[in-house]
Amino acid sequence: MKSVFPFDSVELSPNGREVVILDQTQLPNQEKFLHLTTAEEVFYAITRLKVRGAPAIGIAAAFGLAMCVNRYRTRSLQALEKEFLRVKHYLYISRVTAVNLMWALDRMERCFYATQQALEGEDEERHAIEVIRNALTAEARAIKAEDVKMCEAISEHGFTLLRPGCGILTHCNAGHLAVSKYGTALGPIYLAQQQGFSPRVYCDETRPLLQGARLTAYELTKAGVDTTLICDNMAATLMSQGKIDYVFVGCDRVAANGDVANKIGTNGVAIVAKYYKVPLYVFAPTSTIDLECRSGAEIIIEQRPAFEVTDMYYSKRMAPKDVRVYNPAFDITPAALIAGIVTEKGILKPREIKYIRKSR
Ligand code: MRU
Repeated sequence: MKSVFPFDSVELSPNGREVVILDQTQLPNQEKFLHLTTAEEVFYAITRLKVRGAPAIGIAAAFGLAMCVNRYRTRSLQALEKEFLRVKHYLYISRVTAVNLMWALDRMERCFYATQQALEGEDEERHAIEVIRNALTAEARAIKAEDVKMCEAISEHGFTLLRPGCGILTHCNAGHLAVSKYGTALGPIYLAQQQGFSPRVYCDETRPLLQGARLTAYELTKAGVDTTLICDNMAATLMSQGKIDYVFVGCDRVAANGDVANKIGTNGVAIVAKYYKVPLYVFAPTSTIDLECRSGAEIIIEQRPAFEVTDMYYSKRMAPKDVRVYNPAFDITPAALIAGIVTEKGILKPREIKYIRKSR
């Protein structure tokens, strides 16, 4: 599969001492890269959505943890462990809904202790510290490399759903920018474009942070895909006109019963799609599946600042100063509204999710 982009949205520098991200808040106007060298910078980049999208958040956090351990100056293994746990717990709460964040950080912790255990009897602390640093750096890089493979497989499975000239509605951004490479929900669209299927894509702008307008439209137009931007409240009209054959969305967490948390507005799109008999597919690497959450009701939804609704992408404030604002970042789409969940292991019915084996 060919990538449209000559760069990735999140990287670890070759020496493991910098997390390099494309600042997604500057898109589509500027392709600006940030070099992050502290836990605070990584935390800030995640909370402010400079790096965003569930898989990319997980990768950024794992890289951030490895970077902090590589930079921490100590000769004491105990001090290194303390710093590792401090950074891990700090980054753990940077965004609460995307389970890839916790999944990646927990995986890094298992790596820390497995490496420490393998070193038992090693008297030379300096050597042990070096081995742990290398193991964590390798683990973080493996998290990204495995995500690339998952995205490729997801794209191929999703591609089997498409036919030439079809119309697809997207919500938010689940493309190259949101993952390691290629994307989840956008991956099959890139493949379809490369195979000469000429898909027609309608992007919901995705209020309030405009990931659809700023990021999905930017990615797809760069790839030469036939792209039309719409306001969120126009999707029903397009469906009523028969212009949409499928809805493709990503997700931040899939519960064991097949309910899905994704960008606010997804549930509304799903309800309308059901009415117009347009199948909605959710794209999820197994790192996004949380079998410990029995249903969507158990998924914590991130609440975001009022400023994003009243000011952020307007040239001046567009609401009265003292109005109350409700700004949940995600909503829950019930399993009953989902035609299928596309994972790297294949396309599953939501009720089959509970049987899936996660890839680590
Ligand atoms: O708040 P965001 O921009 O991080 O929300 C992103 C989404 O809702 C995506 O659909 C999801 O993370 C999947 S990305 C492959």
